[in-house]
Amino acid sequence: MEKLIVHGNAKLSGTVNISGSKNAALPILAATLLTREKCVIRRVPDVSDTNYMLQILQNLGAEVERASGTVTVKAETLNGAEAPYDLVRKMRASICVMGPLLARMKESIVSLPGGCVIGDRPVDLHLRGLEGLGATSKVEGGNMILSSPKGLRGQEIDLRGKHGTTVLGTDNVMMAAVLAKGTTIIEGAACEPEVVDLAQFLNKMGAKIQGAGTSHIEITGVKELGGVEHTVIPDRIEAGTFLIAGALAAGKSGITLRRVEPDHLTAVIEVLKSCGYPVERQGKTLTIGRASRPIGANITAEPYPHFPTDMQAQMCALFATTPGLSVVKDTIFPQRFMHCSEMKRMGADISVDDGTAVIRGVDRLSAAPVMASDLRASAALLLAALTAKGNTEIHRVYHIDRGYENIDDKLIGLGAEIERVQA
Ligand code: EPZ
Repeated sequence: MEKLIVHGNAKLSGTVNISGSKNAALPILAATLLTREKCVIRRVPDVSDTNYMLQILQNLGAEVERASGTVTVKAETLNGAEAPYDLVRKMRASICVMGPLLARMKESIVSLPGGCVIGDRPVDLHLRGLEGLGATSKVEGGNMILSSPKGLRGQEIDLRGKHGTTVLGTDNVMMAAVLAKGTTIIEGAACEPEVVDLAQFLNKMGAKIQGAGTSHIEITGVKELGGVEHTVIPDRIEAGTFLIAGALAAGKSGITLRRVEPDHLTAVIEVLKSCGYPVERQGKTLTIGRASRPIGANITAEPYPHFPTDMQAQMCALFATTPGLSVVKDTIFPQRFMHCSEMKRMGADISVDDGTAVIRGVDRLSAAPVMASDLRASAALLLAALTAKGNTEIHRVYHIDRGYENIDDKLIGLGAEIERVQA
């Protein structure tokens, strides 16, 4: 097991290249199961989550090759429709193979993903959608077993849940519907850019999808799909994470992010500007500098295009040393505040109750051994450590490596002092 030792004297400058989006790559890799032909996907980040997905595809019988950021998948013949427990338990997002397996094999056997530290991770909306297309489902031995021996039929489906839309649920229904007989309408679809990227990939394959990016998506089923080439969109959450690194620790000249899609980050950029940070956009680059007088904010994490839940932990790290009071509410994952207890070990003044963190900024945090708990909480601890007094040790670094490609090397490239050592 590795740990990071982060020296709290960071003065960041220079530029960083943002990787392709993990959350766009995962469903797109799953969608390669929908054709026997070869698919070439570029800018797939080399992180453990995408590597788990490649293992699942191989386990199902697909030929998989990875050459740095380019992945080639050819699912000419599949040897079954089961995503094994030992892989699914490592990565909840594996459930996005359900839709393509059901469409291709007329069945899918995927283990129930179980919960995780950010909260309960139900799958009722996924099942509502896929049953709506004519599949039957049962839970047996910890597996969700879906079958549709007569194939799937288009249907009008409402995917809204009590916490709003479901990103992977929308992906699963879309991937099942592209080969169904007739037209499917998804009401209450997720609007995230990663859903749009998947729809673009499927349409390149020959699917007929309209309305991706809105809450109303129409899919006209087709007979078959072909192999394609595709480049994954930039990772908006990695970009947002580096914007906050810049807000916390940029020197006079600020830092520049390259290969980003600023349009995917408007809610985050607006909040940072409202807190006093100069954020400039030039095409596909963003720069951020220090704020002369930073102020806090009151933010609520909601479905896209609002402030993303995957960025709220990182904002807590910024607010921990922002003068005054800030409030962070998460309507999507109300329990997603594990990072706050670790930041309090570093001296942060945060109280969490009922899905809301109230943060009173302190002058400076101080180093302490802290424990990473989930992907974005770990990134938040790394950010907090950049300017904390002393050297902070962050344990269980594997959480960060699930979704950030070489984040320590990228921060070192900007001037941070970080060592990765065996714990
Ligand atoms: C995706 O997860 C992302 N993961 C998550 O990012 C992200 O936090 C989440 O969307 C919300 O934006 C990937 O794209 C791989 P949801 P997903 O279904 O699709 C409830 C990261 O850090 N819900 O949109 O699994 C659910 O409990 C990860 O990169 C149901 O009630 O999330 C939550 O409250 C973490 N029933 C809300 O909907 C269901 O069947 C949104 O969940 C499904 C979800």
